[in-house]
This record gives sequence, C-alpha cells and structure tokens, in this order.
Amino acid sequence: MKSKLLLIYTVIITAVLFTGCEKKFTIGLLMDNYETERWQRDKDLFIAHVNELGGDVITEAAYGDASVQYEQAKKMLEDGIDALVVVAVDQNEAAKIVDLAHTYNVGVLSYDRLIRNCDLDLYISFDNVEVGTLQAEYISKVCPRGNYALIGGAVTDNNAFLLKIGQMGVLQPFVERGDIRIVFDQFADRWAEDEGYRLMKECLKKNEHIDAVIAGNDKLVTGVLRALNEKDPNQGVNIAGQDAELQACQRIVAGEQTMTVYKPIEAIAAKAADFAMQMASREKFKNLNLSVNNGKRMVPAILLPAMIVNKETIKLTVVADGYLKENKIYE
Ligand code: GAL
Repeated sequence: MKSKLLLIYTVIITAVLFTGCEKKFTIGLLMDNYETERWQRDKDLFIAHVNELGGDVITEAAYGDASVQYEQAKKMLEDGIDALVVVAVDQNEAAKIVDLAHTYNVGVLSYDRLIRNCDLDLYISFDNVEVGTLQAEYISKVCPRGNYALIGGAVTDNNAFLLKIGQMGVLQPFVERGDIRIVFDQFADRWAEDEGYRLMKECLKKNEHIDAVIAGNDKLVTGVLRALNEKDPNQGVNIAGQDAELQACQRIVAGEQTMTVYKPIEAIAAKAADFAMQMASREKFKNLNLSVNNGKRMVPAILLPAMIVNKETIKLTVVADGYLKENKIYE
C-alpha cells in the first residue's frame, strides 16, 4: 500500500513539474505595412490564434524597407524567438533573413508572399495563380473583345508574377484570336493607390480607349479609377481587383468596379499560427503534401482557395464570413 501511494505521489509531482516547466513559445512576426486593409487583420488574427495555442507573438513592421526588415529580424533572433513568420517586403532580399534565422537554428515561415532563393522552411499563402485566373476569366466573359490594360502588383512581390501567370493563361487564346489587345502591361513599384494612378495615367497617354483593366489589387484600382475618371467618368471600363477591400465592395455595388477576389484572412492566419507553433516546437510538419519551387528548393507549402466577389456574391462571401459589415458596404 505504502509503495503504491509513493508511486502515485511521484507521478503527480512529475506531472506538476513538467507542466510548470513547459516552455512558452515566442513567435516573431515581421510585417511589411498596413496600407492594404487586410494586413491589420492578418496580424490581429495571427496573434489571437497563436495565443489560443499557448504561444506569444512579438511583431514589427518595416513599412516597405527591406533593410529595416532585416534589422528587425536580427533583433528578434538576438532577443530569442522560437520561430519566425515573415511577410516579405522584398521576395529576394528576404532570403538573407532566412539564412540568418538558420544560424540561430530558427525556422522561417513565409506568410502570403514567397521568399525566393533560400532554404525556406514553409510557405503558406493563397493560390495566387488561381487569383489571376479568376480575375481574367471573369473580365474576359463580360468583355470578350477590346483593349486591355494589365496593372500588375509590386515587382518586389512574387505574388504579382503568379497573378500574371494566371491572367495570361486565360487571356492568351483571346490575344491569339485577335479579340483582345493587351495595350498596356506593367508592374507597380508598390501595391499602392498612387502607383495605380501613375500607371493608368501612363496607359491613357498612349491609348485613347480602354475596355478593361485587370489590376493586382484594390488599392491599385483606387488609383486606376482616379486616372480614368479624370479623363472621362463615363467610360464604363470593366475592372478587376483583389483583396475585397471595403471601398472596392462599395464600388462594385455602385457599378464602378466589376469584381474583386476575396481571400479569407481568417483561414491563412489560423493555418500559419498552427504551423508556426509546430515549427517552434521542432515538430515535423503534419499533413503537408504540396511543395513550391522558390528557385533554390521545393518548399513545403499550403495554398488556400480564393473566391470571386461581384454584385451578386458580396453577401454570400465577405458579408457571410463577417469580413465586412453589410451596412458599411451599402451605406
Ligand atoms: C500581396 C497580397 C495581396 C495584397 C498585396 C498588398 O502580397 O497577395 O493580397 O494584399 O500584397 O499588400
């Protein structure tokens, strides 16, 4: 009896000691900027999910400066983090962050934007080729002939190129038949309204009439529309964007923008939090069956689906998900 009791005590004490010693993981989160509405939400949801899983998050934003992002990474690594999650300012420059993290034996998760040419540990994003496909399929259905302008996303962001692959996969047969003419095709320096404005101005200098614009995201569309409206507010141009920003949804309802693509941020934030915690605990990743070439290696990856938002589907998508409030869109 005595020895049985002793055994029970030992088990209890060991359990208490182990729980007490359980390490609380700290995840470093490096953001680019908050210019596009989604990023504040990405950050807040990611933190909430990591907290739910018992971890802490420290976060910094580099506001478009890749060297600042590197310094922020360095500081976090020196202070001691268990995993690093990066929304890269620059797809190539951020490789240095991955190399540095590995010298500290810390894994890096590329969030939304792929970091190229390095031994990246994990990439979680949406299917960005599919985003481009959805945009081009939609616009080419409503506007199967005419002059098209492609206002691409930031040159520093791999997503901009993936979108273009998806768009051209759809548009090329129309171009070959001579139905669609791509009269302007440029990438922006940044995902920003002023870049959309600058590029659309340039496009309109060279082209009298534009029938359709496929833009990298809704912020670019805001600038595109400013340039178009300065020329002639009644042109009725078909316009595609991405991100389902409030302003874009309002424009869709008002008939000023044709469609946008919605990417459920809750889904990417939850997945990234889960895998960042696995990475912190040095577990082998579970349930990964996809990988993406980043120029140096096949990186284990998760690509989430996106969806079309038009006048008819606003309520079924962004409103139903609680992403945007119905009264705000229709106010
Ligand atoms: C991209 C992302 C887009 C958009 C953009 C602006 O990487 O795929 O959804 O948010 O950044 O920051």
